[in-house]
Amino acid sequence: MKLPEQVPPATSHWYFLKEIYYGFRPNAPAFTPADYPDLSGKTAVVTGCNTGIGKHVAELLYRQNCRVIGVVRTGERGEEAKREIIAANPESHGSIEIVGGCDFLDLEKVALAGVAIGKLLDVPGAGPLNIIIHNAGLTWITAPNNPDTSVQGFEAMFQTNVTGPQLLQHYLDPYLLKNDDPGHLKRLVWVSSAAHFFTPKPWGIYWENPGFQGVPPAERPHGTNLYGQSKTYNIYQAQVWYDRHRKLADKCGCVSVSCYPGNLATDMTRAWWSPVVSAARLFVWEGVYGAYSELYGALAPGLVPGDSGKYIVPFGEVHDPREDVKAALTNGVAAQIWDYCEGLIKQYLPGEQAQAQQQSNDKTA
Ligand SMILES: NC(=O)c1ccc[n+]([C@@H]2O[C@H](COP(=O)([O-])OP(=O)(O)OC[C@H]3O[C@@H](n4cnc5c(N)ncnc54)[C@H](OP(=O)(O)O)[C@@H]3O)[C@@H](O)[C@H]2O)c1
Repeated sequence: MKLPEQVPPATSHWYFLKEIYYGFRPNAPAFTPADYPDLSGKTAVVTGCNTGIGKHVAELLYRQNCRVIGVVRTGERGEEAKREIIAANPESHGSIEIVGGCDFLDLEKVALAGVAIGKLLDVPGAGPLNIIIHNAGLTWITAPNNPDTSVQGFEAMFQTNVTGPQLLQHYLDPYLLKNDDPGHLKRLVWVSSAAHFFTPKPWGIYWENPGFQGVPPAERPHGTNLYGQSKTYNIYQAQVWYDRHRKLADKCGCVSVSCYPGNLATDMTRAWWSPVVSAARLFVWEGVYGAYSELYGALAPGLVPGDSGKYIVPFGEVHDPREDVKAALTNGVAAQIWDYCEGLIKQYLPGEQAQAQQQSNDKTA
């Protein structure tokens, strides 16, 4: 891919410093569990709910009587989290179902998980799908416990944080975009990060080969920048997804936002030496605060479809992303990288999967 021809705006060091500082010293959350509505009859899909922010999100939704569909790569870890959440909240009338095996490092598995979630949403009497939170994410910090490269040959963070969720979303679009909730609660949250500030300028994307296909790990940029690229892309996804589904989204009231949850003590640092983790924890917040940020996007009243593309920061405020990233949302640059990623996942899309299955059935018949 070529660098887009659009002229980028200037970026300011002051804005960068202000936003990075804000991440460590954000305003107190103004929208907290006491403000959350009752979610009886509502359904939410949360990825990466076995630990970290995702587990807090699942718990807070469950507490409001929501039907939570938790999507994880290791089913057992998801079931363990489910047991803990249910035991801690005996008063809830909600439910939790776990869809395991959704390893974003393998697009085939993502497609299978998409089908499995669809089956849960198709059961007779199932209510509307109201909320999707693409929370699961891989950082360079957790990378030692993960492969560098996906099954399809892409840099691991690019596939886990970018193309994997985009593919999963295709399987969920028909449910989210139904005009079936009388309260018009329809929300889509793409979890991003202030790490988007640490990416190449302009536009935050390595245009030549964003997924570093065929590039050995040692020859790729530093993990901070690769993670930052993937989190820049999450900001783009919030806007372009809405642009591509505007008519249906407006009709059912769907809002698609990105969210930087905060700097938080989670399982992200699981590969670090424990004294370093303890020291780092002096500067970060408890993981539940990240859930407040994500649930602002999912539940805060007053957000309307036209707010799509907004970038939520800790612990539930809207700020601007980096200047060029903000400009990319409306000048065609974000759409360009979205289309490129659509090409990468094309063969795993719902229709394509069905067609491939049909062809293989025809061959065997
Ligand atoms: N913590 C922070 O300070 C911070 C700051 C900014 C943004 N974020 C974002 O917040 C989100 C949640 O992060 P966290 O802090 O809660 O991290 P975490 O504790 O490490 O949890 C990450 C979750 O993502 C899942 N995941 C990772 N790779 C996966 C893969 N290939 N397939 C399926 N699931 C995968 C993990 O599953 P496994 O347990 O199976 O690995 C886990 O459930 C991420 O998108 C992250 O980028 C976090």
